[in-house]
Amino acid sequence: MAIERTLSIIKPDATRRNLTGAINARFEERGLRLVAQRRVQLTRAQAEGFYAVHKERSFFNSLVAFMTSGPVVVQVLEGENAVALNREIMGATNPANAEAGTIRKDFAESIEANSVHGSDSPENAAKEIAYFFAEVDIVG
Ligand code: TYD
Repeated sequence: MAIERTLSIIKPDATRRNLTGAINARFEERGLRLVAQRRVQLTRAQAEGFYAVHKERSFFNSLVAFMTSGPVVVQVLEGENAVALNREIMGATNPANAEAGTIRKDFAESIEANSVHGSDSPENAAKEIAYFFAEVDIVG
């Protein structure tokens, strides 16, 4: 299976509750390597740009407000089948539907404050990684 990279974001609900290390442990336990990581306060423009695909959705303004409500940790995870493996580790968007043992089941507060973002395809992963990181800042 191919070595892939995926873009992950530890969201403000999780940084606020000091869960960064606990979440990173979930990735490392399953064989994903943190090859880039930065703690940032997103601007409104950065959050709107990142979620532009959702701009017509009813939850867009609330989502942007939430994503700028505190620091996030943007990170690149690397490993075999990293995109799909990370989605499995994260669990379903709505924590009420997430499988036991997933990050969202164990930590998420709501469908909006759901603790983590993860790219949903290798194509989107490449775009999302480039949104936050220069290639020189990713050390595999
Ligand atoms: P989406 O891309 O559907 O989910 P995922 O993060 O699992 O890839 O949605 C992006 C984010 O938008 C989601 O993590 C939380 C937020 N969101 C809401 O606030 N309400 C909603 O009803 C949905 C579908 C998403």
